[in-house]
Amino acid sequence: MKADNPKPVLLADYRPPEFLIDSVHLDIALAPVKTRVTSKLHIRRNPDSEAAGKVPLKLDGELLKLESVTLDGKKLKPSSYRVTETGLTISSPPKEPFTLEIVTTINPKANTALQGIYLSRGVYCSQCEAQGFRRITYFLDRPDVLAKYTVRLEADVATAPVLLANGNPVERGTLSGGDRHYAVWEDPHPKPSYLFAVVGGDLSSIASTFTTQSGREVDLRIYVEHGKEARAHWAMESLKRSMRWDETRFGREYDLDVFNIVAVSDFNMGAMENKGLNIFNDRLILASPETATDANYESIESVVAHEYFHNWTGNRITCRDWFQLCLKEGLTVFRDQEFSADQRSATVQRIGDVRQLKALQFPEDQGPLAHPVRPESYVEINNFYTPTVYEKGAEVVRMIETILGPEKFRAGMDLYFDRHDGQAVTIEDFVACFEDASGQDLSQFHRWYSQAGTPELVCNLTYDKRKKSAELTVHQVLKPSPGKAKKQPYFIPISMALLGENGKEMDLEVEGGVQIRDGVVAVTDRTTTFKFKGVSSRPVPSMLRGFSAPVMINMPLSDQDLAFLMHHDSDLFNRWQASNAYATRSILALLDAKRPKTVVASKAVKLADALRYALRNSDLDDAYKAELLKLPSVADVAREKATKVDHAAIFNEHRAFNRTIGEKLAEDLEAIYAASRDNKFSPDAKNAGRRALRNAALSLLTTRGTKDDMDRLEAHYFNASNMTDACHAMFLIAGVDAAGRDGVLNDFFERWKDDHLVIDMWFAAQAQSPRAETLDEVKELCRHPLFKITTPNKVRALIGTFAASNPLQFNRTDGAGYEFLADKVLEIDPLNPQVAARMLGAFRSYRALEPKRKTLAKAALKRVAGATKLSRDCLEMVTRMLDD
Ligand code: PHE
Ligand code: ZN
Repeated sequence: MKADNPKPVLLADYRPPEFLIDSVHLDIALAPVKTRVTSKLHIRRNPDSEAAGKVPLKLDGELLKLESVTLDGKKLKPSSYRVTETGLTISSPPKEPFTLEIVTTINPKANTALQGIYLSRGVYCSQCEAQGFRRITYFLDRPDVLAKYTVRLEADVATAPVLLANGNPVERGTLSGGDRHYAVWEDPHPKPSYLFAVVGGDLSSIASTFTTQSGREVDLRIYVEHGKEARAHWAMESLKRSMRWDETRFGREYDLDVFNIVAVSDFNMGAMENKGLNIFNDRLILASPETATDANYESIESVVAHEYFHNWTGNRITCRDWFQLCLKEGLTVFRDQEFSADQRSATVQRIGDVRQLKALQFPEDQGPLAHPVRPESYVEINNFYTPTVYEKGAEVVRMIETILGPEKFRAGMDLYFDRHDGQAVTIEDFVACFEDASGQDLSQFHRWYSQAGTPELVCNLTYDKRKKSAELTVHQVLKPSPGKAKKQPYFIPISMALLGENGKEMDLEVEGGVQIRDGVVAVTDRTTTFKFKGVSSRPVPSMLRGFSAPVMINMPLSDQDLAFLMHHDSDLFNRWQASNAYATRSILALLDAKRPKTVVASKAVKLADALRYALRNSDLDDAYKAELLKLPSVADVAREKATKVDHAAIFNEHRAFNRTIGEKLAEDLEAIYAASRDNKFSPDAKNAGRRALRNAALSLLTTRGTKDDMDRLEAHYFNASNMTDACHAMFLIAGVDAAGRDGVLNDFFERWKDDHLVIDMWFAAQAQSPRAETLDEVKELCRHPLFKITTPNKVRALIGTFAASNPLQFNRTDGAGYEFLADKVLEIDPLNPQVAARMLGAFRSYRALEPKRKTLAKAALKRVAGATKLSRDCLEMVTRMLDD
């Protein structure tokens, strides 16, 4: 450890604030290099703080230039305060409430970290979560200090005709002969500083209105770059559907006169739920059939909903401290998943969410970056906006619903909104609402919040034909996580059924564990045994239906039993789960096989039969069939392999297996491909499903690699009437050495080079290609005139895609992929530490690599760790990963 390693912040050290700020008046005069911020704070001692009255007032502040401090109208002498790199301390503040006026200046143009106020393509915008407000002015920048804000913005009329802040608009006017103007905004709802936002720029907008269930008229507006208005309608539609859904599903109504969304091109994350003024990465707002894929449409719908839902889960009720991040994020992800499930097929939505959880959260939970859903310590909070806090956090909420059932769950949510509106609370407060509303004791369940790692359930089912009984034992295997060697068993809800010969669920008497309701049991001990009576024939277990808990199931099912589940499970999610498990298992078997050719053939037959059966089943919808055809990825197989991972070996067996499936299903796939052409584009679930199925068929057919296949692929690109098809073809062809490859990439480039969003797909398609040339090409693309190292979307499209979505080339045996990423992290870190630290996440599973790659990856990490002036963000990441 370096001597200057910053100290971690601990949950156990939480203390209420010594001072409170009741109201804030901000006057912000926007200018590119010198923006002046005048802040008037009404401050008083916190009656609930033991330390209040004994301590000086310490305000947070970073990268600010202080001009003056005035207390109750009197300018303070420099001797009565102290300014450091992290804040402003006023040594002896008055006992009675007082007014503090602080004038500071900041430089938005030089702000490449994109925290605080910065410029994005000429637009002033802000990002305050988690701790960006302290880069705007000195403040108690912590979520448990709730204040009322009034904001006056001033700017040049020419460059910033639009001036926005949180809350409702109250006044505007012009100044200095019409060259400057101002706008005043007032937010009646007390809020933490992280929800503060301002925007100033030359933007266009689309408008609509929404009438809430109690009759409040809300003006809705989405601000975008001039010329992009038509691409904002899908986001607007999604917003209105979200507003209605939150009323019907959770009884939550919107609470201001306006709701504004602004799309900006430079943004560290996806989007931000600032009160009444959401700011979005433009990739999550803009869509048209020509420029956006179905996946883009879907993520716009879900993120618009997510940020809107935060208005209640996050804004009206916020977090006491940053350790409680999942209180708002896990819950809001759960809510947006439920919303999306209602907009399209719930099963398909669940499959997508589970895929995502397994692809992103499981590896995190099983490696050196594992942390509990509620962490207990952090160095840099920005490093904890993770799949664990978000996606596993959502699974924990989902389990509460599974345990309580929908009615009591809703009652718990109602109680939560009722009891804690206007407060900054903790996970304990949240869980207590469900206990109080249901009478259910959730104390053991609480371990889901404090223990990291993915539980493994080793299951074993025996059948006694003579007694017509079956016994299921479930053993919880809880491997150590960083900082925690021994763990306590969890309360795990398991949705399950035993299936009879005909595939029907047996109606059985169960003993053991906890009976939650028909079809749902829970395990509570390290080993739990269930006894089933009246089992008339040998049962096949359908475990963890709908993925009722974020666990790994380890159950020695035969290939026959899995094939049976693929055909007959009455739970469609589990039919998918069975085929996915079967395919993964088959590829893993090939890795160890002495004669893989014969194994691949025999394994593939069963899967191909099950897939064909599903494809010909008219009861199943296209989107679901498409999910079945999307076989596990190389990364999925690598994750299941878990140790001594050799990506090149996995890639080869994966390709062989997919090719065999493609060959065996060719007839059906060709029929699907020929039948379901898209003519008029509509982004709805049914049409998107049809495109998904056709594209999945195309992918599998392409694995055979014949001339006809390549011609079909090339034609798919040139005949595409929408971006979903064009993009699908471009990604596929970028991955092979087909004659048409360059033609497609060149065509796409020429068509979209002036569109900064669409061109990111062109960067990404090349970065994910498994071809051996890819790393050299990615390095070359880093010098491309359209690539910009300070734009997070560009970095993610090119470098992020290479590191996170190209397992074969990132994990090159010579370590060049690792070295490249280390170089880029070191280049980005001084500009934007948050983005640099995120890139390092690509190393999260390096300990599972085979020894040669592992050594090389570790060396790259050590090189980053040894760099001088590494940010706190990156330093924490490498330290956690290198810690043994
Ligand atoms: N709170 C944002 C969200 O919902 C994420 C975010 C975090 C955005 C930090 C910017 C900075 O999900
Ligand atoms: Zn969120």
